[in-house]
Order: sequence, then structure tokens, then C-alpha cells
Amino acid sequence: MAILVTGGAGYIGSHTCINLLNAGYEIVVVDNFSNSKPEVIERIKQISRKNFLFYQVDLLDEVAVENIFRENDISAVIHFAGFKAVGESVNIPLSYYHNNITSTLILCEIMKKYGVKKMVFSSSATVYGDPEKCPIPENSTLSTTNPYGSTKLMIEQILRDLGRSDHDWSIALLRYFNPIGAHESGLIGEDPHGIPNNLLPYISKVAAGDLPFLNIFGDDYDTKDGTGVRDYIHVVDLSMGHIRALEKILTTKGVEAYNLGTGKGYSVLEVIKAFEKVSGQRIHFKVSSRRPGDIATCYADIRKAKNELNWQASKTIEDMCQDTWNFSINNIKV
Ligand code: UD1
Repeated sequence: MAILVTGGAGYIGSHTCINLLNAGYEIVVVDNFSNSKPEVIERIKQISRKNFLFYQVDLLDEVAVENIFRENDISAVIHFAGFKAVGESVNIPLSYYHNNITSTLILCEIMKKYGVKKMVFSSSATVYGDPEKCPIPENSTLSTTNPYGSTKLMIEQILRDLGRSDHDWSIALLRYFNPIGAHESGLIGEDPHGIPNNLLPYISKVAAGDLPFLNIFGDDYDTKDGTGVRDYIHVVDLSMGHIRALEKILTTKGVEAYNLGTGKGYSVLEVIKAFEKVSGQRIHFKVSSRRPGDIATCYADIRKAKNELNWQASKTIEDMCQDTWNFSINNIKV
């Protein structure tokens, strides 16, 4: 029996593969390398000292996906694969809807055909839109502000309908807050193509001297210091949340959403300070105007994941910055 990991060469997928292998699971990984590189697969094997089957397959290729299920005894799927750049999704919405939603429909159809009715789905706190209150509980009102977010919310809805239609399904919808950091080995981490959109990859490039300064998108929010507040979570903690969610769905039925965050909010200025402390580098910045679509504050109510998954993040903001910097100075761009 194996766990199928879609998007297993990606940022969160690769860390989760390591934790799955360390926990003794057999895995089968599928990725089309649309936003990752083949070297990551080798790094996962190097770090875990374990082997696994890998398929370079696009989930839109129904025949190839079915082949994976025919050739392997899959017991559950952790579904990471999908496009994830917010700005890009605004410019090419049809690609985002087609890629993220059609591939999930294909995957679910094949899972159903092969009697595999257990899935951990990679959702996002983006489904809370501009949250009514913080910390944000899972039963908050859901809304989105961009096509990327809409694909996550629509897939959650599709999976809920699937669960309603057939009570044998067991699905965990994991809503990630802001994943940062890297594996302690420095061998895998987040390596976005081009100029990064997200805060930590951008800060790393400024610290390394690849970019001259950080633009802080607004310092006039109603927050502790005027800059945006987010719930940053170490990717290794986050990936452990997937193992706990998998353990849960393997033994229960139904569809449940869980927040994966730390429950603590840090401002952009606090993150800069933490990064400067651990790296010893000065992070030059300029304050610019607010980024359209940004919200002031976002952090998780973590009680449900703690109570029902027996999971809680343990790493500090300094650990997160340290491991991000480690990955960056190792200069191992995979
Ligand atoms: C973004 C996405 C969110 C996605 C998440 C994935 C947007 C609007 N939201 O969340 O849908 O799920 O990434 O990790 O893109 N900041 C700067 N300067 C920068 C970059 C960011 O000041 O160059 C600030 C932002 O204004 C924000 C904070 O840093 O207050 C975090 O930004 P970011 O890392 O992009 O994450 P989110 O916007 O929270």
C-alpha cells in the first residue's frame, strides 16, 4: 500500500515526502516539474535515504494518471499539484481554472474508479478572503479575491459534494497560512522562478545582495506597527501536519477543513528584524503603496488541528528565518 503524492517535487510536497518516508510510509510521487526541478526528487532520496517510484506526469493526462493507479496499490492521495501564483492567476485565469480544477476532477474520477477514497488536499487560508475576525476559525465565512484563491475554494466545494454523495470518502482540506523556511539540511527549500512575490523569498534575495531592497507594501494598516501581519509557519511543521491529517483520514470518514498555522501573527517589520538577527545581514527596505488585494491581518485559530489532528507547530520565527537563510547561502538552487 502506498501514498500517492501529487506535486511531490514542489516546496511543501517535497518536505512532506521526506516526513512520509521517515514515518515509514511507502510513497509514489507524481510531478510534471512545471514549477520544480528533477533534482528535488534526488534530494528527497538523499535526505531520507529511501527510494520511491516517481512519475513525470501531468495530472491533465488522464491515461497516464490512470496508469499510476493500475501499476500501484494506492491507499490514499496527498494532492499538492496546482498553479499557485496569485498575480499570474489574475492574468491567465482560464489556465488556472483548467489546470487546478480539471486535474482534480480527473484525479477524483480515477480515485473513485479504483476505490481510493481518501485524500489530503492542499488548500489555503486565501479561502477566508478578508477575514471577519482573527484568529480565524475554520467555520468563518469563505470568499476569495483572485482566481488562484477561487480554484482552492471551488475544489474544497467539489470535495465536500463528493463526500456528501458517498460517505465512504474521507478528505482533509488543509488551509495553509504562510509557509516559509526550508529543510534543516539546506538541500530543499522554496526556489521561485524570477523575482519572488512572497515576503521571505524576497527578503532572502535582498540579504544575499541579489536584489537592492525590499518594498514594504504599506505601513498604514491598522496593525501593531502599520505593516501587514501574517501567520508564518515553518514548512517542516506544516508538512508534519499532513502526516497527522493522513493518519486521521486513514481511520475516519467525512470531509473536514483544518487550519495549519501557528496562531501567532508577525508584522513585516518584525520578520525583517528576525531575519537580520539570524543572518547578520542588513535588510534594506523602502515603504511603498499597499499591494492590491492585500489584507491587514491574518492568523489562524489553531484549536481544531490541535484537538482533532493532535498537531501543533513548534518552530519559532527565528528558526523559520534561519532555515530560509541557510538554504539561500548554501546556494543550492534546485
Ligand atoms: C500570498 C497570497 C496568498 C497565498 C500566499 C502563499 C497575495 C495577495 N496573497 O499571501 O493568496 O496563499 O501568498 O504563501 O498574493 N510583503 C511586502 N513586500 C513584499 C512581499 C510581501 O511588504 O515584497 C508583505 C505583504 O504585504 C504581506 C506580507 O508581506 O503583508 C506577506 O506577503 P506574502 O508573503 O506575499 O503572503 P500573503 O500576501 O499573505
